[in-house]
Amino acid sequence: MIHLTINDRSVEVHEDRTLLEACREHDIYIPTLCFHPALEPYGGCRLCMVEVSQSQPRPRLVAACVHPCQEGMVIKTDSEAVLQSRRITVELLLAGAHNDPGILALAEELGVENVRFKMPDENACVLCGLCVRACHEIVGVGAISMINRGISKEVSPPFHVGSPACIGCGTCVLICPTNAIKLQDVTSFRSIHPTASIYDRVYCQVCEDTDPSVVVFNDFDTLLEVETSHSDNHQG
Ligand code: FES
Repeated sequence: MIHLTINDRSVEVHEDRTLLEACREHDIYIPTLCFHPALEPYGGCRLCMVEVSQSQPRPRLVAACVHPCQEGMVIKTDSEAVLQSRRITVELLLAGAHNDPGILALAEELGVENVRFKMPDENACVLCGLCVRACHEIVGVGAISMINRGISKEVSPPFHVGSPACIGCGTCVLICPTNAIKLQDVTSFRSIHPTASIYDRVYCQVCEDTDPSVVVFNDFDTLLEVETSHSDNHQG
């Protein structure tokens, strides 16, 4: 175990924890966007910034979801520097997804009212990378990736053509925090946008569940629960 001071409170945590894990274990709130407990930390959105001082003369801001805990660290999760950093991040997120309820809630929480940045083509994708990582780490196919650089950066299958590796599971749809990826089940076809993928729908041959999407396409955690119980029914 190691010892930290978080917001003037002394706490003990295991040495292999990140700052985000340490704070969550002690019920200290840090907002996140690109973090998901089922995926490797990515450190992409910078919403989880906290202020850290240890032996450095001046405190510095680090992303809590990827920064490891070290003995003696002093952490502030709500200093003015931290809040200012989060406000700018939320402003940038609003530029790409200004109608998304989750981002709007964050803006309200942080008191962000004016947005100085605007994307000409609002598509709600905030490039958090959750869909790409879930496709790679959970589904194991890597059908989509981040392509291009700068303002042209986007999530796409190779060459904007539906990837033959994609199995149409919809994990990217479920994990997307801004609903930028859409799934449609129409008659016997399933389509996923903007990954340019269309599939024949398949049904469970054992329980004759004729439309599993009605049950499972609520959110990512629900999917994991339902998929587990669905599989259990078929054992033996
Ligand atoms: Fe830590 Fe996105 S949640 S950088």
